[in-house]
This record gives sequence, C-alpha cells and structure tokens, in this order.
Amino acid sequence: MPVPVMSERTFQGIHVLGRENNSPSHKRLEGKIAIVTGGARGIGEATVRLFARHGAKVIIADIEDTLGTVLANSLAPSAAYVHCDVTSERDVESLIDSTVSKYGRLDILFNNAGVLGNQANHKSIVDFDADEFDRVMRVNVRGAALGMKHAARAMIPRGSGCIISTSSVAGVMGGLGPHAYTASKHAIVGLTKNTACELGKYGIRVNCISPFGVATAMLVNAWRSGGEEDEDEGMSFGVPSGEEVEKMEEFVRGLADLKGSTLRAKDVAEAALYLASDESKYVSGHNLVVDGGITTSRNCVGL
Ligand SMILES: NC(=O)c1ccc[n+]([C@@H]2O[C@H](COP(=O)([O-])OP(=O)(O)OC[C@H]3O[C@@H](n4cnc5c(N)ncnc54)[C@H](O)[C@@H]3O)[C@@H](O)[C@H]2O)c1
Repeated sequence: MPVPVMSERTFQGIHVLGRENNSPSHKRLEGKIAIVTGGARGIGEATVRLFARHGAKVIIADIEDTLGTVLANSLAPSAAYVHCDVTSERDVESLIDSTVSKYGRLDILFNNAGVLGNQANHKSIVDFDADEFDRVMRVNVRGAALGMKHAARAMIPRGSGCIISTSSVAGVMGGLGPHAYTASKHAIVGLTKNTACELGKYGIRVNCISPFGVATAMLVNAWRSGGEEDEDEGMSFGVPSGEEVEKMEEFVRGLADLKGSTLRAKDVAEAALYLASDESKYVSGHNLVVDGGITTSRNCVGL
C-alpha cells in the first residue's frame, strides 16, 4: 500500500501534521464519545478535528492505518485510531464493542467511509459492471447499515445517541455521479429515514449529510485518472497536490449556483457538528444538503 509523504504543509487549509490549539469557547460536544468511519482523511479527517476541538473523544475508524495513526497521534489524547473495514461485520462490531468497553458508551457514530467507484469505463448502464456495483454498495451501503446496527445495539439501552451518515448530492438527484455511487447514496437517505423511524422511540436521532463536490483525494483522484479508482488498492491513492485541489475547487465553483464561496471538507464537518450536537436535538430523519442550492433548482428562465 503506497504511503503518502507526510509534511507540515496544509491540505484544504488544514495542517496535516499540526496540533490544533484553537479551542472554541463553547465546546458543543464536551465529553461525548464519537466514532468517525473514513476518518483518516478528507471529510472524515476534517470532522475528526472539529469534533475533537469541540471536546469529543474521537475514534478514527479507517483502513488507512498510517494516515489514521498519524492523525490520532496529532490530536492525542482527544483521538484514537482503530483499524476497521466497514464492509466487515466483525470489524464494525468489534469497533463499537471496544469503544463501549473502553469509554463506557457511544454517543455519536458518523458513518462517513465511502468510495466513488469507477467512472470512466462504466459510465453507461449498458456497460454496467455488477462486480463494481457490489463493491460500491458494500462499502457505502452495507458499511453504513452495519454501523447503524451496531451503534443502535450500544445506544438503545442508554436511550440516547446520534447516528449520522454521509450521503451526497448524488443521493438527491440524478446526473451527479456514476450509477452505482448514485444508487448507493440514495440508499443511504432511505436507510437514514427508516432507521430514524425505528430508533426515535429510544431517543436516538438518525440523519445524513449530502455534500456537493469537495476537493478531497476521492474527487481529485477520479479527475486525475479519468474516473478510475485503482481496483487493487481501493482508495489508497496519494494525497492531492495543492494545485490539483485548486483546480478541482475551481471546477466545482464553476458548476455551483452559489458564487463567492468554495465548499471545503470543514464545511461538511460543520454540518456533522450541528447534527451531532444538542443544537439539533429535535432533528431526525433529515438529509442536510450542503450544496449551495444546486439540487433545489434548474435555472430554465434565465434568473
Ligand atoms: N468529496 C466529495 O465531493 C464528496 C461529495 C459528497 C459525498 N462525499 C462522501 O463523503 C465521504 C468521504 O469522502 P471523501 O471525499 O472525504 O473521500 P476520501 O477518499 O478522502 O475519504 C474516504 C475515507 O474512507 C476510507 N474508506 C474507504 N473504504 C473504507 C472501508 N471499507 N472501511 C473503512 N474506511 C474506508 C478511506 O480510507 C478514506 O479515509 C464518502 O462517503 C463520500 O462518498 C464526498
């Protein structure tokens, strides 16, 4: 597995190896125990950092052991790393069980791990690749469902908890991602609503977040390689260069209706913070779309 070169440079405005010392005066997750899957980089990493700044103890669950460990060490003692492949029920079960036995409970699960899948060679439905479909569904849907199952097991007896999953604008409308990815992200919205319906009686809130394009490794790699993920390495590709991130952000800005702003991983993390905190205590079954409005309208009349 290639290990990206670590440096003190910033990625998306975040110090990759630096310690966070800017503590907010009002800590919105003080004393909470949170798990972030796919927390080693990208949107997950930004969320781990923000949750930790707000007083949570954060367990980073990922398959990128080097990135996850370095991140956890940089935030210690507010973060810890646990290897967890979300497609493996044994891994997910052991992640939740070890969290509860070490910290006494689980308050927040952020089901964020995800893969985009191949785009370039399988764009048309007539080229549909069933194995590729299964691979994407396994990580994005099975992974989230397993997280919900085992988090619910830990949260039901306590009568409280919060489960958040990362869907996508591709979970809201068509034409924003490959078929398998789009199907998987729509499934997350459905799973969120159904699980919220069931778990509400136990005081557990279940929500999801649907971001538009963020220039993370996932998106930059897809653009860099014409939409192909490395099937052998899964998501283990290098950290995008500053120039690649800027180009991707410029591309996304060009597609967005909302001008004068750039969507970054931190903005999605802020949405997760809201859903994880008591500020959203009556919000459940909701899909919080973070897209500058692109899924709400089509400008057909030249507005
Ligand atoms: N970047 C975007 O534009 C965008 C937009 C909408 C939604 N999303 C979603 O946001 C989430 C995070 O994506 P990102 O953009 O930060 O991408 P990323 O590739 O930077 O991060 C994904 C993380 O998930 C981990 N992961 C992948 N498979 C895993 C598995 N089987 N078990 C555990 N961890 C696994 C990766 O190692 C990585 O750390 C994904 O669910 C993605 O679909 C991203």
